[in-house]
Amino acid sequence: MSNPTGYPELDALLPRLEAVPRLSVDQLASELIAVLGRKNGALSEALKSVPSLPLDQRKGYGAAVNQLKASFETAFAARREVLDSERRGRESSGIDRTMPGRRRWVGAEHPVTLVVDEIVEIFRGLGFTVAVGPEVETEWYNFTALNFPADHPAMDMHDTLYVDAPPIAGEQGGRLLLRTHTSPVQIRAMLESQPPVRVIIPGLVYRNDPFDASHAPAFSQIEGLAVDEGISFVDLKATLAHFAHQFFSPTTKVRFRPSFFPFTEPSAEMDVECQICHGSGCAACKGTGWMEILGCGMVHPAVFEHSGVDPERYTGWAFGMGPHRITMLRHRIPDIRILYDGDMRFLEQFVPGAQRGSGAGALRAGGQG
Ligand code: PHE
Repeated sequence: MSNPTGYPELDALLPRLEAVPRLSVDQLASELIAVLGRKNGALSEALKSVPSLPLDQRKGYGAAVNQLKASFETAFAARREVLDSERRGRESSGIDRTMPGRRRWVGAEHPVTLVVDEIVEIFRGLGFTVAVGPEVETEWYNFTALNFPADHPAMDMHDTLYVDAPPIAGEQGGRLLLRTHTSPVQIRAMLESQPPVRVIIPGLVYRNDPFDASHAPAFSQIEGLAVDEGISFVDLKATLAHFAHQFFSPTTKVRFRPSFFPFTEPSAEMDVECQICHGSGCAACKGTGWMEILGCGMVHPAVFEHSGVDPERYTGWAFGMGPHRITMLRHRIPDIRILYDGDMRFLEQFVPGAQRGSGAGALRAGGQG
């Protein structure tokens, strides 16, 4: 390919021909112009000189130029091919272009979050404002201010998760713990502002419970508190019945059973008509026709005293409900752990407009339990 031609000016180009296989992309582009370019390319110039040569030299010289030109063309084309395939290799390294695209999950709210939001909205419609408090509390807020006697079993290590930190000094301090209910935020709300108080308090609470079908060591609660002059148990019953009618259905029956909490007197538990059998009795309500959804009562005077509220002037009521439980009732979920698993087959049933075949059976099958 690169034999000497016998013409010095042509043979001078041979080292450049040899060098073509080592040219970079940019060098190849400029060498192409320098050798073959129509205007000043070395071989184009050589060809242009042919007509001015003596007749007997034209043929041989012209043939030598054309042959060298062809050699350059072949070498340039070969180099371009190599550079192109190197580039293609670089671009595709590590990428399998035949692999199907990765599926994008549609983000959505967790079913418990949806229930919390719905409940909070119902109370906001009644003039309640949202309040929140810390998940790490002092003994004073979680127990003492709520009128728990110092030896109450809830304060035991077996029932409560204490934080491994030095106790907080001062009257409102004590050992630090993960709050066992949202009721301490009642105290915080009343210390913050004088009545009238109407707050709805969503949040997580923690108990030293096993993780089984009906217990979880961390779960949500929604606390409600209304304090004003002349508030009675009638207001409590009417408000909670209104809530049940809004949340479940306008005809849902409710009932109140006497109960006990240190921070309310009198205290009650509210049941709603079983959402599955509507009162006739089934496995889900253990044949009673009712399902318990919350604890409530009139705020104890001792709680008012700890919160700087005059118990002679004001009365109030409070309730606490468990959205995890309510979510289970609403969707007939037999095992609370399903709400913690993060299993997409379960969760995607709650993505609006994105129900898929794969997981749609999980919930319905669960409802038979
Ligand atoms: N804090 C109580 C519990 O966790 C619920 C409750 C709240 C009861 C407010 C009465 C009033 O069980």
